Amino acid sequence: MSYLQRIKYLVRHHGPKAVAAKCLGLVGDRWFDWRHGVDNNTPLQLDSYTIVGESRQNATSYGASRFLPLRRLFRLLRERLPGEGVFVDFGCGNGKVLLVAAYCGVRRVRGVEFARELCNLAKANWARFCARTGTAPASGEFFEGDVATYACQPDETMYFIYNPFDKVILEKVLANLNASLHAHPRPLAIIICNPDEIYQRVMREHPEFPLVQTPRFWGYPFFIYMNQPG
Ligand SMILES: C[S@@+](CC[C@H](N)C(=O)[O-])C[C@H]1O[C@@H](n2cnc3c(N)ncnc32)[C@H](O)[C@@H]1O
Repeated sequence: MSYLQRIKYLVRHHGPKAVAAKCLGLVGDRWFDWRHGVDNNTPLQLDSYTIVGESRQNATSYGASRFLPLRRLFRLLRERLPGEGVFVDFGCGNGKVLLVAAYCGVRRVRGVEFARELCNLAKANWARFCARTGTAPASGEFFEGDVATYACQPDETMYFIYNPFDKVILEKVLANLNASLHAHPRPLAIIICNPDEIYQRVMREHPEFPLVQTPRFWGYPFFIYMNQPG
């Protein structure tokens, strides 16, 4: 299908407003990547990567979040959450979410990624981002490993999840978070981008993390769960 045919198809099925928003979203992403030296050279199939850990069969394919919806999300989080905790991306891919977080004023970010090449790419993107912005805008850390066995740290207060794995791993993540909260009680938010019905059901089965808000930015729904809503 040519570009023109694809646009016609999208306009017919989703309406001109949705297509315009999508195009603007793409332009926003290209701008962010160009301005901050983000390398997006990331094949979508995980088979092309060296995977650390046991959870390969529970993972989905690669896909990156978009700059414009994330910018709106971080604006909202700044109003709602205490600013000093670490923001963690579970399955950080090329690190884009963490770069946008830092760009939007989050001061400490951490990524966990089990595909070795993607984790290295995230580190390289972070280094270029810091060089382009002059000084390190935030502290950034990247862990190569499986989120299923990741020991959540007491300084972490925001966890971001964008469609990386199935419910088996989500349950393990929630168990790890509960263990961490038991040892180090603190307010904590889990932000899930575009969760499917299965994810939503698993979260409903964990009333310790009630759903507090479902904003939609540039067509992307975010589900925000907090252990101490207030
Ligand atoms: C859909 S991509 C999202 C990337 C990034 N969070 C974003 O929003 O742009 C999901 C990422 O999660 C990683 N992933 C999947 N399962 C994982 C696991 N069990 N442990 C660590 N990373 C995982 C994949 O390699 C991939 O990079």
